[in-house]
Amino acid sequence: MKIIKPGSTIGVIGGGQLGRMIALAAAPLGYKTHIFTDIKNGSASHVAAKTIVANYDDKKALERFAKNVDVVTFEFENIPYESIKTLEKTVVVRPGWELLHICQNRLREKDFINELGIKTAPYKEITSAKTLAQAYKTIGPKCILKTVEFGYDGKGQHIIDENSRLEKLWNEAKMGTGILEKMVDFDKEISVIIARNEGGEVIPYIPVENIHKNGVLDITLAPAEIDLSIVEKAWEIAYKISEKIQLVGLLAIEMFLLKNGDILVNEMAPRPHNSGHWTIDACITSQFEQLVRAVCGLPLGSTDYYSYAIMKNLIGKDIESWKEFIHDSDSKIHIYGKKEAREGRKMGHITHLVVPPDEIIEP
Ligand SMILES: Nc1ncnc2c1ncn2[C@@H]1O[C@H](COP(=O)(O)OP(=O)(O)O)[C@@H](O)[C@H]1O
Ligand SMILES: [Mg+2]
Repeated sequence: MKIIKPGSTIGVIGGGQLGRMIALAAAPLGYKTHIFTDIKNGSASHVAAKTIVANYDDKKALERFAKNVDVVTFEFENIPYESIKTLEKTVVVRPGWELLHICQNRLREKDFINELGIKTAPYKEITSAKTLAQAYKTIGPKCILKTVEFGYDGKGQHIIDENSRLEKLWNEAKMGTGILEKMVDFDKEISVIIARNEGGEVIPYIPVENIHKNGVLDITLAPAEIDLSIVEKAWEIAYKISEKIQLVGLLAIEMFLLKNGDILVNEMAPRPHNSGHWTIDACITSQFEQLVRAVCGLPLGSTDYYSYAIMKNLIGKDIESWKEFIHDSDSKIHIYGKKEAREGRKMGHITHLVVPPDEIIEP
């Protein structure tokens, strides 16, 4: 197993808040972080040793980056996988391009999951108004049309029902290839984050419940209030996927829990996940430290939690509420340092800790 020792430099592709929190977790272990991003003065760059600003397909810039770092990981999926392939010629990239390639396309991702015998919502590829009309007949009446690539935080999604005018909707959506998914009547949305290193050590975090608003994560409840049998089922899915792809790094798996106890996989992310931010303040090892450990070939840390947690995203102008939360001694505030509080933009988050009372000794 290739060990990247403390003192080395971790290259992170992507310059947002996830990159920032990776850099912040890498520092106590003695690693420096270099960021490769297409935005100047991004959230991650404020806390990293160095930043290269270039397009994600700029071969020369990628080469320069590869020469300056000891291992590369990524914090978002919308990077051309060819760029990761290029990097892999010079430097170790964890996870590798194959996993990114699966996760960045909703059709490939769902095909892969179903081939493992794990269920997803019924879906069909959409390439025209005609294929949409045909697919709607088998998948309708209530569905979601999503772009196959480059969607995130509910962007590029259209809800479809009996009243939708399919041809008009398709023509206006202008999405290239799409995917039509059956709308799932779930009981809860849950997610599992799992880490694996090259030596095959693998540890999941406890499943959490996620509550979305306008297609964007709003609140995470950790742990999810679900039966042990459901926890085990969710973990089994996570183990199966990470073994199959021989994961090195982190994988987040979003799932729909149905009333009958069945679990459908919604989507995967080969990186730290918003639903794992609570782990910074409530777990022995945060998801960001775990990523650093996994990609550097170190033993994985414990995913045990010493507090229950409620994570609330601060989106757009919500960031102003730090002024209230700063007075709550059981809340930890994370502000990403982004300049403009644009609508829908993730600006920070709050983790409210709920330590089981019988375990506290008051001063
Ligand atoms: N097939 C579906 N059935 C019910 N709800 C869905 C479905 N697909 C997406 N959603 C809702 O929309 C949210 C965002 O969709 P998702 O596929 O996770 O895309 P994104 O990449 O934007 O996170 C989900 O977390 C869920 O709340
Ligand atoms: Mg999602």
